[in-house]
Amino acid sequence: MEISKNSTQTFIRCIEFFSGIGGLHYAFKQAWSNGEVIASFDINIVANSVYKHNFGKNPITKCIESLNVDDIEKYEANCWLLSPPCQPYTRGGKGLDDQDQRAKGLMHLIEILPKLSNPPEYIFLENVLNFEKSRSREKLIIQLYRMNYEIHECLLTPLQFGIPNDRLRYYLMARKKTIIYENIGENIENLEENYFKRSNTNIHRSWPFEYIVRPIDQRSSCFTKSYGSHHIFGSGSLIQTKKLEVFARLHTFPLKPNNSDNFMNNLNNIQDQILLPPRLYDSIKNSSSTNYLEFPDDVSIIQKHRLLGNSLNVFVVAELLRCVLFNY
Ligand SMILES: C[S@@+](CC[C@H](N)C(=O)[O-])C[C@H]1O[C@@H](n2cnc3c(N)ncnc32)[C@H](O)[C@@H]1O
Repeated sequence: MEISKNSTQTFIRCIEFFSGIGGLHYAFKQAWSNGEVIASFDINIVANSVYKHNFGKNPITKCIESLNVDDIEKYEANCWLLSPPCQPYTRGGKGLDDQDQRAKGLMHLIEILPKLSNPPEYIFLENVLNFEKSRSREKLIIQLYRMNYEIHECLLTPLQFGIPNDRLRYYLMARKKTIIYENIGENIENLEENYFKRSNTNIHRSWPFEYIVRPIDQRSSCFTKSYGSHHIFGSGSLIQTKKLEVFARLHTFPLKPNNSDNFMNNLNNIQDQILLPPRLYDSIKNSSSTNYLEFPDDVSIIQKHRLLGNSLNVFVVAELLRCVLFNY
């Protein structure tokens, strides 16, 4: 059974930081119907032009580290979606971590969080493998812990969701707990001493998470047998499809069904229906989205590849939002 999309859903107002071409926005729309991305921030004007083309709204072209409390509070958001630059953590990089200029935006958000009169109830962050070992993550976790968030972290690849793309990524989901613990100060010391020693065992590496599927829990229907299957979907049509479209499709962006090569036109193929994870099949088949991924004419092929390469797997994030972060 699908989580019901009805009026009982909490209304979620998101701010999307480091928005790029809006991968997190697409994922949010797939995951949750009762909500809105009310503001997004990115300094890349090409990415912003693609975002505007598809969502009708220009992201704010401002360095995130220059935002103050008012700049953020005015949106009254209860959810932050963030995919900060990965260069400070990539294996081939200089390993400057929180000292890297490109980590400034994230560091700033970590510092500003406790200054907000109404911190977001939900936080979702995506990054590369290695982030889990970084000081940046350590700072983020400690801040969230101090502020009484319940935290889930995982390292997952789209392969585990039945998508033929091996791209291991770090995801963090944090939800503000309603119960306030008096002795949080003592716990912090425990955390600082113990958390990082145990960090590898705290991070989920399988999907679904071990503890989520409970026989009595209707929400276990978030998961299907198809997860973990490594089938290529629509392999016949895939070969014929142009490289860029394959790229976008592997990232599970919604694509407009008006191209004869397009995968969505071939969904009548019974094999595709069997091999796709059912919810991905449904979301593609029933998608009458006004927010397909398209590029404005003046964006070059190289830029498109770069933007898509910087982006993320929409379906994986949508499942994590729906099944973990917003799962009551
Ligand atoms: C990993 S990409 C995020 C991609 C995005 N999730 C998507 O779906 O396309 C990081 C983005 O952060 C932006 N960025 C980097 N530093 C920034 C800063 N200080 N302030 C605002 N945006 C920044 C980059 O322009 C880039 O688009």
